[in-house]
Amino acid sequence: MFDLLILNGLVALPGELARLDIGVREGKIAALTPNLGDAAAAYIIDATGQLVFPGFIDCHTHMGIPIKDTWSADDFASGSRAAAWGGITTILDFTVQAPGQSYHNALLERRGRAQRQCHIDYGLHVNLTDNNPAWQPEIGQLIADGFTSFKAFTTYREAGMMIEPADLRRLLGEIGRHGGLLMLHAEDDELVSQATQANQAAGRLAPIYHARSRPAAAEAKAIRDAAAVAREAGAPLYIVHLSSQAGLEAGLEARAKGTTIYLETCPHYLLMTEGMFERPNGHWYITTPPMRTAADAEALWQALADGHIDTVATDHCPFTIAQKESGGQDFSRTPNGLPGVATLFPLLYTYGVQDERISLARLLELLAENPARIFGLAQRKGQIALGLDADLVVWDERVMTKVNAAEIPGAADWNPYQNVVVGGKVTFTVSRGRVLIAKGQFVGPDVWGECLTAASLPSAHPE
Ligand code: URP
Ligand code: ZN
Ligand code: ZN
Repeated sequence: MFDLLILNGLVALPGELARLDIGVREGKIAALTPNLGDAAAAYIIDATGQLVFPGFIDCHTHMGIPIKDTWSADDFASGSRAAAWGGITTILDFTVQAPGQSYHNALLERRGRAQRQCHIDYGLHVNLTDNNPAWQPEIGQLIADGFTSFKAFTTYREAGMMIEPADLRRLLGEIGRHGGLLMLHAEDDELVSQATQANQAAGRLAPIYHARSRPAAAEAKAIRDAAAVAREAGAPLYIVHLSSQAGLEAGLEARAKGTTIYLETCPHYLLMTEGMFERPNGHWYITTPPMRTAADAEALWQALADGHIDTVATDHCPFTIAQKESGGQDFSRTPNGLPGVATLFPLLYTYGVQDERISLARLLELLAENPARIFGLAQRKGQIALGLDADLVVWDERVMTKVNAAEIPGAADWNPYQNVVVGGKVTFTVSRGRVLIAKGQFVGPDVWGECLTAASLPSAHPE
């Protein structure tokens, strides 16, 4: 007797697709064979003609965070519903550290919020924004407790979030010593501030000046500078939301010099360009870093195919139209961020795998295997294998759909990919054996997500 059976699907194992049945017991994958058709189960999904994938991991989301006098529109409840709808069964979000609050207290507060709201499993990276040296001794304990990934910003000084170079050096050393990983939002604040002030002084406030104020050179410089510090400290780095060819080259150069450096990009850098900022509603598309040129997008696609980029995550940070309109046409007042969790897998499958830019095996690495490995979750997540969590996604490639904000069960009332064609549909999403999405509709319980903690992290980049 199983709790759940998924029958007759084409199952995506690492490196091969196989016609298999999947039996689930107590939240784990308990059987993986071609012949479970006669077995009994409380719930049976017939996946004939459909693909079955491991639940996807979005390792970069921001549910309900403060940005520019407002809050990102999704809380953990609505954001995790939208994620499940798009085939994501794990999100890795961030703590929000108030000034004067310790790293540990920020974690407790954020974890409490997620615990009360989240429909899918979640982990939390620890934000380092108030870097009072008094909090430093907490880092070793956080890592020992399984909160192994930290995040710092080399920009956003005006928001009180930027890490000073001396703190970066000090904290990278501490994180590296304890076997943790520092994630970095890499934009050189001086270059960004100079360009922003020049544009503002000249009255250049239209959305395109968001992109002009945050040039690719700022990303490349911040990556080079931080990689040199990481190399000296013997600590690994993870660059979030890589947006440009120049940034990519800086990352690869650092890797060639021996820095352990992981690279993440996002769908909006692959599928959109800075041309979006020139549209009449161009300010809705403001996100940081900005989208770049078609050549940048092409370089990122190539790096995905070549195995140079390790993960694709969303940086999910949606705002409603009213929120996006609240800053008028002034780029510097528009809350920055885009929705992404519902469309991550469908878009990467359509424009990556179906368009033959990346293989299916590569997609599984980018959205499941690599995030699980890099963030220490591989003992439970990232693959379809006996004994692992039964996080599963059924995908019907026979149905052509279009992105439609009105269908997505999140808080955003618009979507940057509205009407973009998608070559399939998530029909079922299963989290630890529990069906959350059935026939495309959310059917899960109010609270289901578990807080994930990491086992030890890999010691070196595989390249
Ligand atoms: O504009 C963005 N990406 N908002 C979320 C915060 C960040 O920098 O990742
Ligand atoms: Zn960022
Ligand atoms: Zn982010």
